[in-house]
Amino acid sequence: MCGIVGYVGHRPAVDVLIGGLRRLEYRGYDSTGVAVAADGHMAVAKKAGKLSNLEAVLDETALPASTTGIGHTRWATHGAPNDVNAHPHTDADGRIAVIHNGIIENFAELRSELERDGYEMVSETDTEVVAHLLHRELQTVPDLSEAVCAVCRRLQGAFTLVFADATQPGTVVGARRNSPLVVGRGDGENFLGSDVAAFIEFTREAIELGQDQVVTITTDDIVVTDFDGRPVETTDYHVDWDVSAAEKGGYDWFMLKEIAEQPQAVADTLLGRHTVDGQLQLDEMRLSDDELRDVDKIIIVACGTASYAGLVAKYAIEHWTRIPCEVELASEFRYRDPILDRSTLVVSISQSGETMDTLMAIRYARQQRARVLSICNTNGSTIPRESDAVLYTHAGPEIAVASTKGFLSQIVACYLLGLYLAQVKGTKYGDEIADIVHELEKIPAGIQRMLDDADQVRKLAQDLVGSKSVLFLGRHVGFPVALEGALKLKELAYIHAEGFAAGELKHGPIAVIEEGVPVFVVVPPKARDQLQEKIVSNIQEIRARGARTIVLAEDGDEDVVPYADHLIRMPKVPTLLQPLVAAVPLQVFACELADQLGHDVDQPRNLAKSVTVE
Ligand code: F6R
Repeated sequence: MCGIVGYVGHRPAVDVLIGGLRRLEYRGYDSTGVAVAADGHMAVAKKAGKLSNLEAVLDETALPASTTGIGHTRWATHGAPNDVNAHPHTDADGRIAVIHNGIIENFAELRSELERDGYEMVSETDTEVVAHLLHRELQTVPDLSEAVCAVCRRLQGAFTLVFADATQPGTVVGARRNSPLVVGRGDGENFLGSDVAAFIEFTREAIELGQDQVVTITTDDIVVTDFDGRPVETTDYHVDWDVSAAEKGGYDWFMLKEIAEQPQAVADTLLGRHTVDGQLQLDEMRLSDDELRDVDKIIIVACGTASYAGLVAKYAIEHWTRIPCEVELASEFRYRDPILDRSTLVVSISQSGETMDTLMAIRYARQQRARVLSICNTNGSTIPRESDAVLYTHAGPEIAVASTKGFLSQIVACYLLGLYLAQVKGTKYGDEIADIVHELEKIPAGIQRMLDDADQVRKLAQDLVGSKSVLFLGRHVGFPVALEGALKLKELAYIHAEGFAAGELKHGPIAVIEEGVPVFVVVPPKARDQLQEKIVSNIQEIRARGARTIVLAEDGDEDVVPYADHLIRMPKVPTLLQPLVAAVPLQVFACELADQLGHDVDQPRNLAKSVTVE
């Protein structure tokens, strides 16, 4: 939520900042702004709406040349998304500019205090108080980094803050607590960003920042301290993708590109994690086999799409390991007094590694002595850093707000974890594990086949463009797929969509079926006789009540043919792996329908990629 970029170096700062903001815009797009240090004051340009609006302003009136600056793309929390509330915010003298991601919880108290001291606020944001606080602090503590430390000690809540001071050009200072900030190490230039996409065009060398740390960048130095100004050790890392991965590469939307990248994302997540005979080796697993053998309960915590990956995984993990596995929305988990102890393994799933609810859930779990393992796609992000163990998905950067390749790679990583636990606990034999791994290795080809057949799904979406409501049904692992299909459609096309467990139909949902309502049904493989037969009955029931049935069924399942108004074929795969192919047409459908409706597929209204506030 909110994208942040800071720059000091030798290039025109505005160009670097705008390029960074373009790649960070997925984090929030209510307003954007930049500030550069020039001639003893901060020159600021900011505008409500998307980055293109700011670019139009800069085309009209260019900012002065400068090689020091900060930029921000906002997802509004305090104050409407208008020009005044857009970041950067400045002090009354126009000397200091600040950008912020997060929520300053004690801002009302700080605001009253500053107003008593004669400061006047012009915006409704919590961020502006920070600019004034820093201005006041600099009167007695002239060093920018020291003054920032003093300000941070006064703040409560979650924040990434980045400051520039026009009287100290060539220096940018950042600080973080509970919100993301990474440093890009360049040659004669350095960068700050909410994530590495901010500076990937210029450097792939990055530094992780820890909790409650302040970083000062100049052209040739990077200094990191805690909030008391004491130097701290940092960890460098190399980013294993380049700028082309963060660009559209000829696709109309990032989402389309990311859907198309799914065979690779799945293959990369499997890569190097098993031997030829299928034995698993999870090198980055920081929990010992003894610790894993001790696990007697698993609780998966996650939000949104990631929680649906968890729901899919529950079926596999319990089946393979015989360890009870619960799946819980992270936002509910820590507020309900869950029963946790040292033998509980809490598994968090998060593409961004920064989702606040998930982060708070794992912190709570660790306080209760549970072990925490994180499945994450973002190297160096907060959640894996605060976990006992981590299993990275290797999906590459996911820019579109709606998760696609993140989702599939999360399922795969959960499966690897389930199989590894089964291997350690001895609930599955080596050859059984090898068989499942072998089936998983065939999945990228299955996904590719769904992509190759996607034209019919696009045509269907064009036909259904006037739909007011679309329903999704599934059983077993098809149920979370139905939930995911509905979420994708809601968030992208802004139309009512719901996913149901097909077995629940007659307990209520069937009442909403009426003439012409489109209903997607994910049919389990024929090998699951009972499930398959039951869902075929469900299809008949809804069709008899006028539903337009869109049936996803495996090759060779002829039972469904008489009841399918539209049939989408899937390759034959084991039941537990079916979500990995079944989700694909649902993603394509939502993407195409949203596009037909003229919506911004990559940046749906009211949403942001990484939800770093509760
Ligand atoms: C929906 C979507 C969200 C995310 C959720 C968790 O398409 O992308 O529901 O899955 O916000 O995000 P991460 O995985 O970054 O924790």
